[in-house]
Amino acid sequence: MCGIVAYIGSKNCIPLLISGLQRLEYRGYDSSGIACIHKSTISDYKAVGKVKELNSLIEKSSIDESQVGIAHTRWATHGLPSEANAHPHLSTNRKFAVVHNGIIENYKALKSNLEAKGCKFQSETDSEVIAHLIEQLYDGDLVAAVASAVKMLVGAYGLAVIASDEPDKIVAVRNGSPIVIGISENESIIASDLSAIVSHTKQVIFLNDNDIAIVTASNVEIRNQENVPISREIDTVDWDFSAAEKSGYEHFMLKEIFEQPEAVGNAIRGRLDHVNNSALLSGLNMDAQDLVTIKRIIIAACGTSLNAGLIGEYYLEDLAGLVTEVEQAAEFRYRNPLVDAETLCLIISQSGETADSLAALREAKLKGSQVAAICNVVGSTISRESGRGIYLHAGPEIGVASTKAFTCQVSVLLMMALKFARARRYTYTDAAELINEIEKIPEYIDAVLKQSKKIEKIAKRWAHATNWFFIGRGYQYPVALEAALKLKEISYHHAEGYHAAELKHGPIALLDENFPVVALAADIDGKDKTIGNIEECLARKAPVIICATQGDKSLASYTKDLIEIPASSKYIVPITATVAMQLLAYYVAKERGEDIDQPRNLAKSVTVE
Ligand code: M6R
Repeated sequence: MCGIVAYIGSKNCIPLLISGLQRLEYRGYDSSGIACIHKSTISDYKAVGKVKELNSLIEKSSIDESQVGIAHTRWATHGLPSEANAHPHLSTNRKFAVVHNGIIENYKALKSNLEAKGCKFQSETDSEVIAHLIEQLYDGDLVAAVASAVKMLVGAYGLAVIASDEPDKIVAVRNGSPIVIGISENESIIASDLSAIVSHTKQVIFLNDNDIAIVTASNVEIRNQENVPISREIDTVDWDFSAAEKSGYEHFMLKEIFEQPEAVGNAIRGRLDHVNNSALLSGLNMDAQDLVTIKRIIIAACGTSLNAGLIGEYYLEDLAGLVTEVEQAAEFRYRNPLVDAETLCLIISQSGETADSLAALREAKLKGSQVAAICNVVGSTISRESGRGIYLHAGPEIGVASTKAFTCQVSVLLMMALKFARARRYTYTDAAELINEIEKIPEYIDAVLKQSKKIEKIAKRWAHATNWFFIGRGYQYPVALEAALKLKEISYHHAEGYHAAELKHGPIALLDENFPVVALAADIDGKDKTIGNIEECLARKAPVIICATQGDKSLASYTKDLIEIPASSKYIVPITATVAMQLLAYYVAKERGEDIDQPRNLAKSVTVE
């Protein structure tokens, strides 16, 4: 949510900042801007829309070279996307420029104070107060001014600040919104995530909350808010840069859908224990006693990760006999949840930075619950603060619509349930078949991907429909929720996921011949009852698209639009059916010509509440 990149070093920062912004654009793309220092003056450039607009503005201008600059791509929170609201924000005397991710909750009070002191505001944003505050507090020492300013802020922030009188440094601060610093020879790059850094260097420092970093071309010094120097480790990140490229695919989303056999293969690799027919998952750091001591699991997450959690609930209850509840992370955080030392609070987050999921983790820890996380982004805040968990190894997910992270999350949850199950009630023999099925997930996904042309045809036939229902039962119910989320976020069609039994309790009133219902009806428990629900929809003239098991002849008479997934155990169906639904959503959005990787109003990582 919003992207920050900043550079100080021996090279001209402008093209580097532009390419950094392009890599971060998936985090927000309402507007963007750059501020850099040249001959003790700050120049700034801002444009509404994509980074390419900023780039053409800069190409047309006679901008001078600069070796220090900050840049930002915005996802609007306060004020419409506009040049004035785009970052960087400058102070009244134009000697300070700031880029900010997060939300300043007390900005109104600060703003009226600053206005009373003569500060001239240019934007409607909460962020601009920071630039003016620093100007007011500056007494010849940028670090001291920033340190004093952040003490007055309530909210979440990741910041990068420059001052025209101190062009030898950038000051970066983190509190609730990630900041990582890349260290290279004669240059340092600050960014809100690794994607803007890894093409320059693999040596990075992740800031912790309340860290203030003084970054020069040759050094990074970190202090706490009391101005005491602190040390942070330099990490070497194992990130394949090409993984963040489209590699010939039209969209990142399509690439990521097709990457799923490999991504899930990576998530599974080395984690199955063939000697004991269990799962290893060493990051969970739980021995057999820990596994039997846990009495209850609460999964807290948002969006697609929440839907993965719902499938995890079925796995954990079904296989391990463990009471499991799934909560929207924001609700968990504010609801005064009942947890104790025998509860495991499991946070699921692709980015590992989602504000509500992070807050849920902190709340669970504070209440004495055990915690663990399932994350994709290595070194992310949730993964670090949870202290134990399982990485997905899915590789970077750039498309705003989450795809491969979901199937990896579900695969990891299945292995986790297997591990709990083996400790609690599953026999060696019970587990053998499941292990076999888990190993075949990449193959099963491949079989779904081979149907893509057929799914594309169905998507084209129904792309005009503006309302959609997705229905399912049992393991296919959370798939219906995820399928609806996928379709709505990239095609902007109204889509809702329901339990198949729920339609007749109200939603069925909406159905007519223009309202497709996608029925998830693979040949596992619940199929026969779902067929009854399909009949009910057809009786209301609603067109029905059915996702069925390959070779299941019993459904062909209900529709011409049959999507097939391979026959597998019920535990695998939520994965294969979801891949089919991802393709359906993708092709509907493509047929409508939507901006699939950067859907309107969305951002990849939601770091505000
Ligand atoms: O990074 P997280 O998994 O914590 O993100 C949670 C949601 O913001 C995310 O899944 C969102 O719903 C996606 N746009 C779904 O495709």
